[in-house]
Amino acid sequence: MPVYPLAPRGTIAPGKLFADQHGAVAQLHGVGIQHLDGLFYAWGEDKSAGATFAGVACYSSPDLATWTSHGHALTADPGVPDIAPGRVVERPKVLRRADGTCVMLLHIESPDYSCARLGWAVSDQPAGPYRYLRSERPKGNVSRDIGVFQDDDGTGYVLSEDRANGLHIYRLSADLLHVEEIVSTTLTKPGAHPAGPHGYESPALVKAGGLYYLVGSDLTGWSTNDNQVATATSPTGPWSDWADIAPPGTATYDSQTSVIVTVRGTQTTSHVYVGDRWIKDDLFHSAPVWLPMEIGDGRARLRWHDSWTINPVTGVVAGQPSAPPG
Ligand code: DGJ
Repeated sequence: MPVYPLAPRGTIAPGKLFADQHGAVAQLHGVGIQHLDGLFYAWGEDKSAGATFAGVACYSSPDLATWTSHGHALTADPGVPDIAPGRVVERPKVLRRADGTCVMLLHIESPDYSCARLGWAVSDQPAGPYRYLRSERPKGNVSRDIGVFQDDDGTGYVLSEDRANGLHIYRLSADLLHVEEIVSTTLTKPGAHPAGPHGYESPALVKAGGLYYLVGSDLTGWSTNDNQVATATSPTGPWSDWADIAPPGTATYDSQTSVIVTVRGTQTTSHVYVGDRWIKDDLFHSAPVWLPMEIGDGRARLRWHDSWTINPVTGVVAGQPSAPPG
């Protein structure tokens, strides 16, 4: 039985698992994160049942490092086909509505990944319980990995991977419960990847200094690859060329993007790259690879840190870049 190292509580140690308040391995896989009511809330895939659905686990933290489990925000339900045990449900992402209620968007799948739908659930509070509503193929399109983004004016977007047709950004309705229109579509750079042409997956969108940064990975299943970033002055694009976010050949320090968190502090605004280092045959123990992300002037860059923290009040990162483990 391999030994899975845990990060010391209160620190972020990329490649090491977070433990919750009980010492259990936090299930922060494919996670969505929002800062709500003074805490960071995280909704992750609970991989207790391997690749198939056990529930969406919810955690909160004051500092992105000290996680408290709130149990399942959405539980597998044998009576609801989309979220029944044996199905695959990935990348839970939550947005908050103007009235304070929360909407969870989900990748609803079958074990052979042929279902490819976008699902919705709602709750009165961040930690749930969430009530599952329904799923659809947005505008008739295949929808696998998703990300979400809410602009300063409250407009919600869902980012969704549609294989050879690319990565779509859809604008959501004001209540966040419906897809209104595709505002832009991006494709992989011609020739960038031998398996292409196709789009990006594990999409994340973040706004910094008035510019939108779109981050995603190539489509290589549970294997990692060099994730990239493109920029635009609007979610409608046009998007720039794509550029690596980590030293090429490191496969993004062996991780795949899940979300980019913005920490708005009194001294600075920082960004946190939140990625997964999947272990295909032991998804439960897939480690978080979370790193400070330097974003500005159209660039987004990760540098390896063995261990680091972020002050949620000031926004200042503590910890020095170091050589990644060989
Ligand atoms: C890559 C995706 O990013 C993951 O979320 C998961 O769907 C795997 N593919 C499944 O192979």
